[in-house]
Parts: sequence; structure tokens; C-alpha cells
Amino acid sequence: MKPETIAIHLSNRVNDTDKPVVQPISLSTTYEHGDDSPIYSRISNPNRTSLEAVMTALEGGADAAAFATGNAAGMAVFQSLPAHSRILAPSDMYHGLRSQLLKVFKGKLEVAFVDMTDIQSVASNIHKDTSLIWMETPSNPLIRVTDVAAICQIAKDKGIRTVVDSTFATPILQNPLLLGADMVMHSNTKFIGGHSDVMGGVLITAKIDDFWENIRNVQVLGGASPSAFDCYLLCRSVKTLSYRVKAHCENAMAVANYLERHPLVDRVYYPGLPNDEGNLLACKQMKGFGGMLSFIYKGDSKATDRAIAKLKLFSNATSLGGVESLIERRAKVEGDAGNSHPSLVRVSVGIEHAGDLIEDLEQALG
Ligand SMILES: Cc1ncc(COP(=O)(O)O)c(C=O)c1O
Repeated sequence: MKPETIAIHLSNRVNDTDKPVVQPISLSTTYEHGDDSPIYSRISNPNRTSLEAVMTALEGGADAAAFATGNAAGMAVFQSLPAHSRILAPSDMYHGLRSQLLKVFKGKLEVAFVDMTDIQSVASNIHKDTSLIWMETPSNPLIRVTDVAAICQIAKDKGIRTVVDSTFATPILQNPLLLGADMVMHSNTKFIGGHSDVMGGVLITAKIDDFWENIRNVQVLGGASPSAFDCYLLCRSVKTLSYRVKAHCENAMAVANYLERHPLVDRVYYPGLPNDEGNLLACKQMKGFGGMLSFIYKGDSKATDRAIAKLKLFSNATSLGGVESLIERRAKVEGDAGNSHPSLVRVSVGIEHAGDLIEDLEQALG
């Protein structure tokens, strides 16, 4: 089956004598004991099982574990490592997970932040005790593209585990397990949920091994699992993921082309632009360039905030991947863990009409 079909049919497992077409929400916290029935909702729940099944199939993995948020999914990976493991993480990565590594795992894990787009730098930062390479591609907020196959090859040769945060790509545009990664992570809050109304995270593994058992223990015993209702919403949303992602990609390309020619825009970061440093790699590794782009406005932080405030269709809000366009000046939200240029603006291009979005940018940017 192709992703469009997988998304509709594997997210919907009906086991009900009334034969509803759509899988109902199973709110029960506990189940009558039986051979195949779930035991207790923290351990497993029919809606969560469907979400894990569809994500496993979309990524071509062996199993998936769903969490309450993307950060909880990331945390499960870091918690599953032996104490004082050394990990490599990207210098450009989601600041919330960067903060998690620096604050929650301070003294528990050794973290080195490296430019993941520079293979030499990755190779030279590997030590004998490096146990994990965490990638994020395209990255947040500079939309940089990492060569997953090349880094996984280096890691495999040295017995190092690889995990890719593929939130910006979605399983529709990129499948890191097929490029050699051991695990993929998504914040389901973003494109998979797609409507800015549900939070979630998921890990998908290439193989079931001891490390995966650790992850399942963190999920089931740690208990940061998504509710049945969250899983129901995510299964409903994933059904339209392919079509939404196509529209996000088309609109982001149109907006990137417009911004690139704008006299008040210094630089646009979007791998779909032929002169973007990630373009060649994205053409090789991805099936589309995604709905996320960033740009540097020619003006200080106050002028940038003023331009953003004039927009009518783009909400000035954090998060991404919803049907509605969002925009924000990154430095304003990143706090002390961020290192963004003061006039860097990140845009989550929604699926409104591209012409309307460009018209709105035109009146706001001047
Ligand atoms: C690339 C990336 N990974 C992970 C996360 C964390 O996801 P959540 O907010 O669902 O915890 C985010 C959130 O913005 C993100 O952009």
C-alpha cells in the first residue's frame, strides 16, 4: 500500500459489533481480562494501538511508541541511554529539546552540539564513548538539511545509535529508517495533527531490541502516554496528511520565491530554493521540501515585530504544521537556549490560497 492508503486504513481498526466505519474512542481505563484485550490504558489502548500501527507503516519501521508530546518522545530516548553516555546533537535544533538536554540531563549525559551538515565535523566529534547521534532534518529554525544516510553510515561503522527528529519532513516527505537510521521521532503536534488542536509525539524503531524495550518501559512505566482522545484526533488527522503536505509544500515554495525577491528580505532559508545550501541533498533525500521556511528581515528586532504585527492571515504564534499559517520572530520565543539572529522570522506556511498569503505579506512587509 502507498502512504495515502496506509494513512486511511491502518489508522482505523474497528473491533465493535455495531460495525462503525470510524474507530470509536475507547475511553475505558481498564478492560475485562481476555486473551487479546488490552489490560489497562497506560499500558495499551485501542486508539493508541491504531496510531502506533499507522506510524510504523508510514515510516517502514518495526514498531512505534506514542507519547503525550514530542518532547516526551525525545526524553524517552535520552532516558533510555546508560548514565553519562555521550551524545552528538545538532547545533541547529528545536530549542525545547536542546534545553531538555542542557537542563534536565545536566550531569547525566554528555552532549556535544555539532554542525550536522558538516560530515567531517560530525566524524571528528565522535569519541570512543559516543553512544547516540541525534539528527533533526530539516532543522528548526534554519531549515538545514542533514545527510542522514552519510551520518548513519559513519555511526554504524562505530556501533553508534542514530535517531532522526523528522518533524519538519513528516513520513510523507522523508523516511529516515530507509536511509539507515535506527529510530525516527515526530512531534505529532505539528503536521501529523495538522490542525493546531492536539499534542503528541512518537518514536518509530527499525528493529525491536533491548534499547526499544527500554523505550517501551519509559512509555508504559513512565506514563507520559497520549490520551485515547488525543490518539483518536491524530488518527483522524493522519488520514489527510499526504494531501495537506502537498499543499504545504506548494505554498511554501511560492512564499519562498516571493520572499527571495523582496528588497526588505536579506536571506531566505528554504531547501526548495535552488541556491539554498540544502537544495541538492533535499532533492536526493526528500520527496518535497516541506511547509517550513525562515527569513532574515532587513531591520532590527523592533522593525521585524512591527512588520509581523501588520499581517492579517498569518497568526503571530509559536508552533507549526497546522492548516493555518503561523509566523514568529524566533529570538523572541527561544529564551536563553536559543541562538537565533534577532531578525530571523520563522514561517509555518499553511494551506490557504498562496495568492492570499503573498498579498498579505506584501501589505505587511511593504
Ligand atoms: C522539530 C521539533 N521537534 C520536537 C518538538 C517538540 O514537540 P512538542 O511541542 O510536541 O513537545 C518541536 C516543537 O516545536 C519541534 O519543532
